[in-house]
Amino acid sequence: MNNSFLTAILGAGGHAKVVLDALDSNGTNQDSIVVYDTSPHLINTLVFEKWRVQDQKHLDLKARLHIAIGDNKVRKALSIKHSKGLDDLVAIQHNKAIVSCTASISPGSFIAAGAVVAPHAKLGYGVIANHMSIIDHDCFIGNWVHIAPNATLGGQVIVHEGSMVGAGAVVLPGVIIGAYSIIGAGAVVTRDVPSKETVYGIPAKSANL
Ligand SMILES: CC(C)(COP(=O)(O)OP(=O)(O)OC[C@H]1O[C@@H](n2cnc3c(N)ncnc32)[C@H](O)[C@@H]1OP(=O)(O)O)[C@@H](O)C(=O)NCCC(=O)NCCS
Repeated sequence: MNNSFLTAILGAGGHAKVVLDALDSNGTNQDSIVVYDTSPHLINTLVFEKWRVQDQKHLDLKARLHIAIGDNKVRKALSIKHSKGLDDLVAIQHNKAIVSCTASISPGSFIAAGAVVAPHAKLGYGVIANHMSIIDHDCFIGNWVHIAPNATLGGQVIVHEGSMVGAGAVVLPGVIIGAYSIIGAGAVVTRDVPSKETVYGIPAKSANL
């Protein structure tokens, strides 16, 4: 196969399984995917009896990349280190995600089964919209953000780079979440959240209080 058609999945852990399951469900040609990891525990193991995990030091430099790692900072670092340019990253969308044709999804992003990305939502590089998450109309989601399973963002929410909105959290319309913040699972975020803050609870409050 011409290597320019190969997609290299970096990561073979839990999040990578979700990504590979999406590719499988989409009917992607198994031979067009190569899975890499650095962990000795994962190298040479089989994922879904389909993909044998390769040592990342043998990464095929001609393949296009999708970084399948849940940790936002690691996903960012590997994207910058290994891609020829961020626009060369591969976005992956499960065929059972619902994405408005007016939404914009940047390279390197992953949209899981059941996720909804509503009209005019904009997602940056390497965003994860996990299972059943809802990103409502006109949201702006910065690079390397993770919207965890079942989290709901109301319309016009802004989530800046590298933040994580935990499972089942609800962010009210128009709220702004600063960069590299963490929203706890199940939180209801009623007010803006500064950068590098962890908040949780209903209504969400700073973990430092
Ligand atoms: C909010 C969060 C980041 C805090 O993590 P932490 O700093 O390690 O906090 P701890 O586990 O030490 O808990 C500290 C206290 O906060 C409480 N707490 C933790 N997370 C909470 C949450 N989401 N909602 C309400 N209370 C929470 C704990 O019960 C504990 O209370 P206590 O001191 O009275 O016993 C984490 O619990 C969380 O919710 N992460 C999101 C996980 C997620 O959704 N991941 C998605 C993966 S796909």
